Amino acid sequence: PKATYILPDGSKNTLAVPNGQSLMEAAIHNGLTAILGECGGSLACATCHCFVEDAPGPLPEISDHEDAMLDMTATDRTEQSRLSCQIIMSDALDGIVLRVPDEM
Ligand code: FES
Repeated sequence: PKATYILPDGSKNTLAVPNGQSLMEAAIHNGLTAILGECGGSLACATCHCFVEDAPGPLPEISDHEDAMLDMTATDRTEQSRLSCQIIMSDALDGIVLRVPDEM
């Protein structure tokens, strides 16, 4: 499956992401440095904040812990906000579009 990341400069990057990989990990693996992911996906940093512009399928529920971290993002959260380390790729999410905020 594929995921598209819209970077702060407006450029779009579409990546092939293996099932089971988080969208934070996929970005870092592919050198998209706009996503920091400082804590490695353990819900401790909020530097993987993204806005979900288009979700082809249902996203995982926001856990209480993710919800609390979303209150600490550098760019204010919106209804579309998620932590990209908590979105795990699957065939159901093929074609998902994330926008990366200006500030992590
Ligand atoms: Fe730290 Fe997602 S990578 S909360």
